Amino acid sequence: MIALASDHGGFALKNEIRLLLDDMGLPYTDFGADSPVSCDYALFGVPAAKAVAAGKCEKGILFCGTGAGMNYAANKICGIRCVVCSDCFTAVMSRAHNDANMLALGGRVVGVDLAKMIVRLWLETEFSGDERHKRRIAQVMELDA
Ligand code: RB5
Repeated sequence: MIALASDHGGFALKNEIRLLLDDMGLPYTDFGADSPVSCDYALFGVPAAKAVAAGKCEKGILFCGTGAGMNYAANKICGIRCVVCSDCFTAVMSRAHNDANMLALGGRVVGVDLAKMIVRLWLETEFSGDERHKRRIAQVMELDA
């Protein structure tokens, strides 16, 4: 299960990614927002991040204007490793090296086709499991209270 959430700035892109996930046959839970009316990203991003941290959702994808606010909100939740991404290289490496469990996209930054490519790559790339990457991630995650 993939957690989705957006504010108004990411609402349209979230709907495009919902269509992609439908095409890929991947189930998702959409934590809102449910309309493009102006709203606050943390109100939707934090519940999605909590669902990932609790293991109710395996991964999460967040959408706001830039991805920045959603990234702030998600990374405040213990266990979350969220990456803002607007390129394919970061999409792959954030999974292979950083084992990112959430992806934040900017609906005002990336076009629909690039966003779909990023999401597909990010979802399909496995963590390498290399010891050096596990060690580096552990050094960061131990900061979670
Ligand atoms: C909303 O205008 C915008 O600030 C928000 O979507 C997001 O980009 C914040 O990080």
